[in-house]
Amino acid sequence: MTTTAPIDPTEFRRALGAFATGVTIITARAADGTPLGMTVNSFNSVSLNPPLVLWSLANSSLSFDAFCKAEYWAVHVLSAEQQELSARFARRGEDKFSGLELDAGIGGIPLLRGCAARFQCRTASQYQGGDHVIFIGEVLAFDRDETAPLVFHGGRYAHATRRDPAEAKPRSAHLAGSFGEDFLGYLLGRSHFRFFAQIRPHLVEAGLSDEEFYVLASLTLKPLMSAEDLAAGMEGVLDEQSADALRALVERGFARVASPASSTSSASYELTDAGRGCALHLISAAKAVESQVLERLGHADAVVLKSLLNRLLTVIDPQAAALWGRGET
Ligand SMILES: Cc1cc2nc3c(=O)[nH]c(=O)nc-3n(C[C@H](O)[C@H](O)[C@H](O)COP(=O)(O)O)c2cc1C
Repeated sequence: MTTTAPIDPTEFRRALGAFATGVTIITARAADGTPLGMTVNSFNSVSLNPPLVLWSLANSSLSFDAFCKAEYWAVHVLSAEQQELSARFARRGEDKFSGLELDAGIGGIPLLRGCAARFQCRTASQYQGGDHVIFIGEVLAFDRDETAPLVFHGGRYAHATRRDPAEAKPRSAHLAGSFGEDFLGYLLGRSHFRFFAQIRPHLVEAGLSDEEFYVLASLTLKPLMSAEDLAAGMEGVLDEQSADALRALVERGFARVASPASSTSSASYELTDAGRGCALHLISAAKAVESQVLERLGHADAVVLKSLLNRLLTVIDPQAAALWGRGET
């Protein structure tokens, strides 16, 4: 669509935001030795041979003059874990480097750690572009890490994830209205069953049912837990079976009554040493299964999957986050 109407700056910004980018921090050292740094998403590749990259700097930046004079600068492509760092380097004029561990780069450029990639550059050219200056840099050195990148889209931070090649075509030709293989309940349910099937042999070895394992694992979250707390946490998952499972754990010597029921409060339960030992053994076995699965999925997608499942839980089970009151007694 073309338009000759005057450009509305807010709408223009919004339209530019449709272009998803990574997030970088550009650093350099001012002539007086002060470290410079700012968050930038105008970074892009220019040429492979010679290796050139570009980014643009607002004329209004407090470090504008210093960046224009700097011969060397570094582009840090941020990882998904560095959103805080991005926010810090987007604040005007603060001491952005305080408390950070740095490496020394070419010409003394301050280099940040933990990034998805770093490019050390020498300014090849600068061009005026409206209210920005475009820097083109020759890449002198770079390094990279297999880590999920931070993404910026529509004015917000986002995750990047690979698409499943099978996504483009339907996996099977279902009639409209039937439960297709992309039905959320199917995907979640089957994933859960197949995932848990890999953990179950460890439970069987320990002589525990699924329900007893859920309750045992829940008892590790707080030093003391009442039967009501447990039942509330298990609502919709175990319901009345949680009381049976708790009783079985007490009989096995894995849990005990810490304070009996009174007229004003119900009984509280705690793990015994044997119960804690068994729980820790099973939780570490479950985490080993998780690592194997997530390794096959890939670290970047594992981060995205967990983020999306957390969001899904807040949508369909808003109480879930507050359920266990982690750390309280
Ligand atoms: C995701 C994101 C991308 C940004 N991209 C740019 C950019 O490409 N160029 C720019 O000049 N400022 C950009 N900014 C704004 C600067 O980071 C911000 O103005 C910073 O405070 C400038 O610092 P200074 O004025 O202390 O130099 C971006 C900010 C964010 C949050």
